[in-house]
Amino acid sequence: MCGIIGINSYKPVSSAIINSLKKLEYRGYDSAGIATLSSGLINEIKSEGRVDNLEKNSLVKKMEGTIGIGHVRWATHGIPSSLNAHPHSSQNVSVVHNGIIENSTILKKFLIGKGHKFKSQTDTEVIVHLITEHLKKENIINSIKKTLKLLHGSFALGIIFKDQPDLIIGARRGSPLAVGYGPNENYLGSDSYALKSMTNKITYLNDGEFCVIKKDLVEFFDEKGTKINKKVLELSSENQKYDKGDYKHFMAKEIDEQPMSIKNGIKEYLDTANNDINIFNFPWKIENISSVILIGCGTAYHSCLMAKYWFEELTSLDVSVDIASEFRYRKNRFKKDSLYIFVSQSGETADTYAALDLCNKNGMKTCGVVNVIESSIARDSKFVLPIHCGTEIGVASTKAFLGQMLILYILSLKLGLIRGDINKKKFSQKLKDLKVLPELVSKTLLIDNKIQTTSSTFIEAKGSMFLGRGFSYPIALEGALKLKELSYVHAEGYPAGEMKHGPLALIEEGMPVVVLAPRDNYYKKTISNMQEVIARGAKVLLITNKSKDEIVSENIWETIEVETTNEDLLPFLLTIPLQKLAYYSALKKGYDIDKPRNLAKSVTVE
Ligand code: M6R
Repeated sequence: MCGIIGINSYKPVSSAIINSLKKLEYRGYDSAGIATLSSGLINEIKSEGRVDNLEKNSLVKKMEGTIGIGHVRWATHGIPSSLNAHPHSSQNVSVVHNGIIENSTILKKFLIGKGHKFKSQTDTEVIVHLITEHLKKENIINSIKKTLKLLHGSFALGIIFKDQPDLIIGARRGSPLAVGYGPNENYLGSDSYALKSMTNKITYLNDGEFCVIKKDLVEFFDEKGTKINKKVLELSSENQKYDKGDYKHFMAKEIDEQPMSIKNGIKEYLDTANNDINIFNFPWKIENISSVILIGCGTAYHSCLMAKYWFEELTSLDVSVDIASEFRYRKNRFKKDSLYIFVSQSGETADTYAALDLCNKNGMKTCGVVNVIESSIARDSKFVLPIHCGTEIGVASTKAFLGQMLILYILSLKLGLIRGDINKKKFSQKLKDLKVLPELVSKTLLIDNKIQTTSSTFIEAKGSMFLGRGFSYPIALEGALKLKELSYVHAEGYPAGEMKHGPLALIEEGMPVVVLAPRDNYYKKTISNMQEVIARGAKVLLITNKSKDEIVSENIWETIEVETTNEDLLPFLLTIPLQKLAYYSALKKGYDIDKPRNLAKSVTVE
């Protein structure tokens, strides 16, 4: 999704801006641009496609100026094109923008009435013209304040001015924005990742705030324009140099990192000496919590769904799960004794953040399960359980999914024990099993050839289905999501028991169907559902776990056996072949695995 960078320095900035834009590429985007100020003029260069295209433009190399802004755009208003790419500039001002201006049509009409001419189809251009209009009568700060007041919707902005060789203005409402501090230069960025190669000293803007960035000074203001002091945070050096290593794609690396990331998560939360789980500083009395509401989007939503099964199995709490974009607009009945859990890898997903904000405003108990600990969701949740799986760059979430599930499983175990819903013996056995999970994940990762071979059938087919029951159902949804997002073929996840209520009509000769049937309580039922699809011509790829009991079924196309563990933990292992299936499918199609089309790593608009 869109990314912002701004640098105010004593040195030329164009190549540093391009390098930082490359750091933002992981977010997913369709065009890029840069504007610098030199000899009292704003120079703007933009291009469709990758930052590489922009860099190849010979004019970029010649670009002068010690102050500038850059942007990667993920189209919302107007097609992806160099004309619609940011920055957008008038003679006086140049703007980069993340977010959506909801009242742009009305504002555009008003500005056209005042004689302003628009070049692009974007909502952003109204910001440029509003500032330009206000500058006719007001100073810069007042022009910014008046402009921001008129905007409805969400934004993070970076702004430079023709007559101001030492000024970048940043402003935030709804979309994240950070300021970085360097020696003799200061920076603006839509996330700390973009700034990490230049500095580890960061300040995050809160909603409504804006900032003035000079070469030697940064000042912050609240919504009313009153100067405020803000903390400078030192980011940990961890993850600072995250690269692909010998891997062709981040996704492949991130899949392989899962034994280590699970190990890290376990290390952070398990108290091996006392055979316990450490969840320190939980701010509420656990006895006062009677229900849990889990909220997320995409893959994070699937880990919430998975957690519902564990919470129901291990605790007596009422559990519900919600997609953040639905939750935020529904008429919710907020309950004081509920724990609201927000799951997010990036911690910046706009819908998940809005749901959190809504709960905070209603005085609810909010808990973030987040990977990026400097993110908005981590900062604004009343309690945070970090995932500790390390930087995830591939747009398709892999190790963060396992990481989210791990934390939610650990939380359900702990709550189950404290509430007396499970006894110490059962708890200890489950911890024992959990400790060997990294090893089992490692072994399951060795399954490879069969997945590579079967992936050809999935990409050649019109579509495919992923079926599971109970604990395997959320994993079926996740497997289908991974395949469609990476290989652009239709894939549908479904509860195996629901097939005869409609989707069975889709099954035809040769259609690939993944059936997740581990040897758990649902095994026999799932095998029966599998027979029903085989009988209608489906090519079934059965994924189960190793067992001495033979699989009593005929006409299965292929079978993959993951390692064996207790049934709570099997979802972790079942996920791995599905991640690889999606990876190999996209690889065979020659698609951009780490940056699938139309998608973004951090979905900062709703
Ligand atoms: O950063 P988040 O976990 O909040 O992101 C939520 C979804 O956008 C994300 O999981 C998305 O579905 C992934 N691309 C799936 O692989």
